[in-house]
Amino acid sequence: MKLAIGNDHAALEMKKEIAAHLESKGIELVDVGTNSPDSFHYPISGYKAAKLVASGEVDGGIIICGTGVGISLAANKVDGIRCCVCSEPYSAKLSKQHNNTNMLAFGARVVGIETAKMIVDEWLNAAFEGGRHQTRVDMIMEIQDTGKLAVAEE
Ligand code: RB5
Repeated sequence: MKLAIGNDHAALEMKKEIAAHLESKGIELVDVGTNSPDSFHYPISGYKAAKLVASGEVDGGIIICGTGVGISLAANKVDGIRCCVCSEPYSAKLSKQHNNTNMLAFGARVVGIETAKMIVDEWLNAAFEGGRHQTRVDMIMEIQDTGKLAVAEE
């Protein structure tokens, strides 16, 4: 498995620890940065990681900023991205099972490193369940692709 990983200045130390955690599991990483503690605009790393996911160059992405909010908002603007901010493992697991998320975000100022590892592990170990959830994910993507949701316009 190959994942993109990205962060801003607020999440540099957490990114390093999460990267080591993932690499210890044999997961290959593409680190889109930042690797400097200097103030960094999180949309840049959110966008870079999202483009790698959307193009299929990696199997998924993990992005971290102070809250996880800004970087996930940026990633979700890229076509084909479904990124969820999670502060606990249950939502991370369900975001894959029900929403087929292809990116995961969290906040280095919100969760501690052990919770962050649990969030990452639950997300990685979960699988999309399809069925009725596919119908709903298709609706989400229809909104992105067309700017509207036909069934809701009736
Ligand atoms: C940086 O101060 C902070 O705004 C950023 O890490 C993130 O929390 C934005 O959503």
